[in-house]
Amino acid sequence: MIKDVQEKILQLKKENDICILAHSYQAKEIVEVADITGDSYKLSVEAQKVSNKNILMCGVHFMAEAAKMLNPDKNVYLANPSAGCPMAEQMEPEMIEMIKAQEPDRKVVCYINTTAALKRVCDVCVTSSSAVKIVKNMDADKILFIPDCNLGAFVKKACPEKDIMLLQGGCPVHASVTKADMIAAKTAHPDALVLCHPECIPAVSEMADYVGSTSGIMNFAAESDAKEFIIGTEISIAEHLQYRFPEKEFYVLSKKILCPNMKLTTLMDVYKTCEGIGNGGGFEIKMTDEEITSARKCIDEMIRLGG
Ligand code: 13P
Ligand code: SF4
Repeated sequence: MIKDVQEKILQLKKENDICILAHSYQAKEIVEVADITGDSYKLSVEAQKVSNKNILMCGVHFMAEAAKMLNPDKNVYLANPSAGCPMAEQMEPEMIEMIKAQEPDRKVVCYINTTAALKRVCDVCVTSSSAVKIVKNMDADKILFIPDCNLGAFVKKACPEKDIMLLQGGCPVHASVTKADMIAAKTAHPDALVLCHPECIPAVSEMADYVGSTSGIMNFAAESDAKEFIIGTEISIAEHLQYRFPEKEFYVLSKKILCPNMKLTTLMDVYKTCEGIGNGGGFEIKMTDEEITSARKCIDEMIRLGG
């Protein structure tokens, strides 16, 4: 059944000139039909190289918005219109503008997990894999980092030369893991290396052997000689790694790191959108030229500083 649907998707991709982008947190059967898979940074960079008329994002809303901003002339679709990221909507642009008015020399760095409306008032966008490098490369010494205070704390520690202000925001999924969860996982698997995403709280990531983005974690596990790993990010990553490296053992840091939004997209959503694109259907991201130009500036700046 899964194979049949996948075959139909591959056929529809050709017929309707579609490129499928899938975040690494998507299910295996979706990743298998995707043309480009990766973390947020890879998806934003690769989205610019797409030559197809239609782009289908399997991920959450801000990722489809970013793909649209980078490809204004293409039709960009989100496989499941209900898939949003709660962190992306945590802060209002007005609040950031108030801080900017009080401290005009403080540059605003936003995580890519933000709405286009919020990106418009920010100077530079970052992803978890590019955040430290970009903040180090910025001319400014005074920075406001939004919305994730955990990723922000990670950047702050890596860039002690900068004055970094943080606000109370973050990923409710990664932040649900506690130090007690970490101790329990380490006790259960004492020989395993712990690989953690910087969206986890500092008390958790400080106990990890490696802290990095989704791709960073996957690359570390691929290159390490270790045989056992505790994976401190969305549980799909432990599953993908286990398929890729059957000779190694991958455990989840906590069953709580399951993103309900990333799990909303099903293979049938992908199939239906691919079919819909051929006859005027599918959930298309609509943005005005002005919205794209004003929000895209900080993504272009990210690519300039991080590339
Ligand atoms: P990265 O793809 O930057 O690792 O992000 C993790 C995440 O939570 C995406 O929503
Ligand atoms: Fe948003 Fe966290 Fe889910 Fe990523 S894992 S989409 S940051 S809620």
